[in-house]
Amino acid sequence: MTKKLIAGNWKMNGGLAANQALLNSILSGLRGPACDVAVCVPAPYFAQCQPLLAQGPVALGAQDVSAHETGAYTGEVSVAMLKDFGVRYAIVGHSERRQYHGENDALVASKAQRALAGGVTPIVCVGETLAEREANRTEEVVKRQLAAVIHLNGHCISEIVVAYEPVWAIGTGKTATPEQARDVHGVLRAQLKAATPHAQRVKILYGGSMNAGNAAQLLAQPDIDGGLIGGASLKAPDFLTIIASAA
Ligand code: 13P
Repeated sequence: MTKKLIAGNWKMNGGLAANQALLNSILSGLRGPACDVAVCVPAPYFAQCQPLLAQGPVALGAQDVSAHETGAYTGEVSVAMLKDFGVRYAIVGHSERRQYHGENDALVASKAQRALAGGVTPIVCVGETLAEREANRTEEVVKRQLAAVIHLNGHCISEIVVAYEPVWAIGTGKTATPEQARDVHGVLRAQLKAATPHAQRVKILYGGSMNAGNAAQLLAQPDIDGGLIGGASLKAPDFLTIIASAA
């Protein structure tokens, strides 16, 4: 069995003092975690977080990466810049980027490609809206989103991490039931199996109101290989409890 991955997505939260306090609490509370752990921090704080996390068990992650290598792309952050700060993971295609920044499947796929080429593991987010779920379109939507990434990255698709994040469960306190999550994870695993003999190696995370109370049950499901945690990753005791649930 592959080790689970618990990744915090801080989103646009934090500050110098708060980051230091949060990371100190997480690092001092971790007891040789039995799973992989990462925190995806806002880009301006890579320089602060890299030395705090150095040599520790918590990897540094980014929340996005440019699809371009370098050049005149104002506001973008390249994969080479991530590497300069020891970043191991980059979330791509988070629903908040799809929704508020107009990112489409093709762009998400090329961001994943750029991350892979630069030696950073993309955490590719997929997930349906409430309207899509109610119209019984969940499977179609997540498969379309993942297919775009497989299409462009077929040869190294086993190197990605996938995160299933139902949009209606993000920041709402509504979590997918373990059965709902397991079903979609099963669909994604089957799709990966059709693309690579190493599909079992791909971690498929669940994200969407995962918290200290519901993590253990979600993480016990087949094909749920970890979590991508928003709100609860900003509270050290909650994040530590989720990490402990993944052991
Ligand atoms: P919440 O855990 O706050 O629902 O956010 C989930 C998420 O979007 C992680 O990327």
